[in-house]
Amino acid sequence: MRTQVGIVGAGPAGLMLSHLLHLAGISSIVVEDRSRAYCEARVRAGLMENWVARMLIDTGVGERLQREAMVHDGIYISFKGEARHIDFQKLIGKQVFIYDQKEVVTDLIARRLADGGQILFEVENASVHEFDGRSPKIRFRHQGRAEEIECDFIGGCDGFHGICRPSFPAGVRSDYDRVYPFGWLGILSDSPPPDDELIYCFHERGFALFSMRGPDLSRLYLQVPPDEDADRWPDARIWDELETRLGGVRPLARGKILQKGITPMRSFVTEPMQSGRLFLAGDAAHIVPPTGAKGMNLAMADVRVLSRAIEAHCKSGREDLLKDYSATCLSRVWKGQRFSWWMTQMLHRHSDEMDFDTKRQIAEIDYVTGSEAAMTSLAENYAGLPMA
Ligand code: PHB
Repeated sequence: MRTQVGIVGAGPAGLMLSHLLHLAGISSIVVEDRSRAYCEARVRAGLMENWVARMLIDTGVGERLQREAMVHDGIYISFKGEARHIDFQKLIGKQVFIYDQKEVVTDLIARRLADGGQILFEVENASVHEFDGRSPKIRFRHQGRAEEIECDFIGGCDGFHGICRPSFPAGVRSDYDRVYPFGWLGILSDSPPPDDELIYCFHERGFALFSMRGPDLSRLYLQVPPDEDADRWPDARIWDELETRLGGVRPLARGKILQKGITPMRSFVTEPMQSGRLFLAGDAAHIVPPTGAKGMNLAMADVRVLSRAIEAHCKSGREDLLKDYSATCLSRVWKGQRFSWWMTQMLHRHSDEMDFDTKRQIAEIDYVTGSEAAMTSLAENYAGLPMA
């Protein structure tokens, strides 16, 4: 098989890259080790920055998003039994959208296939080769046969546990990471969310987040120990804990729990995001804790930069944008890292004691929800820093 860009991974990054390249007249093939059904069903964080929603709409994949996404003007932060509103619309004139990553993936798969795109699902043993030279290759097994894609560039969009990042030659990469001493227990529940907007709760028993996927479908999270076993959380315990941490700021409707899982929390960045003609994008290059809701947004920013750089190379032989890819992405990535780390440390409980740091944390939340300057900074980062 021969194509211009071989893409490993059919998540939001790989599929959007393939879509943007197609619009620029550049061919690509996407390989993915999971099934199409798995990719379309996996619930992941669902918050979309303003410009990402606009990019989906402007590139013709936003039709269902415009119909079904929930538009939010701001968020609530709750502490000391009070929910304080941060009104993005009023502060910076921007909104954000709730639209689960699996919906983005579903829409992009449908669109790529309708446009004649090639996505090979359930490939096995994918590996990347010769990306230091002019003819990179992706090898894998598909439907029982050994296959090879010859291409000009490889997009490594295969997530944190993927094969692309570890394929960089020894000594090229520096990794930066932080593992947090807690995780999130996440549930999807057949019940209306307590408010139309998200509520981030700081509570002495730990953090909780009240999000949603629809008017009668809640997505709720609890801070738990990092190695927690979801089986230790029978439904009644989850509801009792959510209600306690909501602190009475809204009534909480209970419902049938449809899904339950533990999300580990870590911050990770690899530098550079490129080795030869292999370019990493999204979770393959960086992970953020979900508190800042930046994961999919950073992935979309990467592939926008990458598709433009590849287009400039194919159409006018320019090398500069490709050469700058890593630096261009990393300046946004580190700002996203900083914001995600900051939201995480501010809103989680780090100790059971009312010690210096806990007092400082409460003062910080009080300040961030009371000062217009501080709220504006939060709003600007949460709704998405401007794209260069
Ligand atoms: C979600 O709806 O899944 C969600 C929203 C905001 C976050 C994290 C997760 O910060």
